[in-house]
Amino acid sequence: MTHKIPGWTGWGYNYLPGKFLSEISPTGRHKCKGDNVLMKKVLGIVISDRRLGNSEVLVKEIMSSIPGECGRELIRLTDFKIEPCKACYRCLQPHQDCAQKDDFNYLMGKIMAADALIIGVPVYILGPHGYYKMLMDRLVGVGNYIEQTRGKPCALVIPYGTIGWTGYTKAASMIMPRLLNMKIVDCWQVHATLPGESLLDSDNIEYARKLGQDLFSDREYIPGNRECCFCGSDILRLLADNRVECPICGAKGRLDHDNIPNFTDADYFRFSAHQVEEHFKGWVKEMKSRFAVEKDKLKEAQKDYRDKDWWIRP
Ligand SMILES: Cc1cc2nc3c(=O)[nH]c(=O)nc-3n(C[C@H](O)[C@H](O)[C@H](O)COP(=O)(O)O)c2cc1C
Repeated sequence: MTHKIPGWTGWGYNYLPGKFLSEISPTGRHKCKGDNVLMKKVLGIVISDRRLGNSEVLVKEIMSSIPGECGRELIRLTDFKIEPCKACYRCLQPHQDCAQKDDFNYLMGKIMAADALIIGVPVYILGPHGYYKMLMDRLVGVGNYIEQTRGKPCALVIPYGTIGWTGYTKAASMIMPRLLNMKIVDCWQVHATLPGESLLDSDNIEYARKLGQDLFSDREYIPGNRECCFCGSDILRLLADNRVECPICGAKGRLDHDNIPNFTDADYFRFSAHQVEEHFKGWVKEMKSRFAVEKDKLKEAQKDYRDKDWWIRP
């Protein structure tokens, strides 16, 4: 059966369950009828339900400004059905997609086929919009996607409403492109509260245009000197003895004069190609084998809790 989002046209392909991962070419490009393989394809993902909100208009402005011939497609993530991960771990097997019958595999096909991603995600209650996390939680099988996404540019646009209320959004928003080993071109936090308000400041429009122009250049996001120099997280965990750890990428360093983090001795970076492979193909798989060994013991430990059936449903 072919899975198709109603009204979806343009480049890409119809997703055939269980097949697409092995069908994607090493360059991540899907050949479709009438497809110009030389043309860059840019996918915009808007993670806000607000029509013509700041995420939407800024993603559109960036996409409009990409020079040259370019294929453009937009996804409003909240229009997609993304269920919670069922922790079945099928996706840990090579070339396996997710077993769930929702829109996740289709979306990942689109992400892999794109040459660049632009993600617009607003701050909701001190973090990124919850739909983004729903999508990220489905990336246990990231090892199956990474060959198609590695090195491709990704720009992040993060509108927020109140100065001082961005919370952990910036650090959390970079996790998905980092996991996919994409090159982060920018992580732009934009102060704008009302729908489309970002457009009232011409500096924002100019910034968005420049971002679009630079998307396929060698521009890369450079973290500030109080951020993790590896992943760009602006949240750092304080350890004993003047040590510091990035909770996002796991790099450890020390605090220098005026509390500037120094990561020159760091020997671990969670998002390196090697560590992603090691964690998602090695460690998680090992847990699966351990589960097979411990299954009966676990069932025995759980059994007294089975009958405590106090669940309520809406
Ligand atoms: C439910 C909800 C929660 C929000 N929480 C925050 C917040 O914690 N911090 C903040 O700075 N802005 C917050 N905002 C404001 C939005 O980030 C801001 O309006 C943004 O421009 C929305 O982007 P959009 O127009 O693309 O939807 C919140 C807005 C909503 C609707």
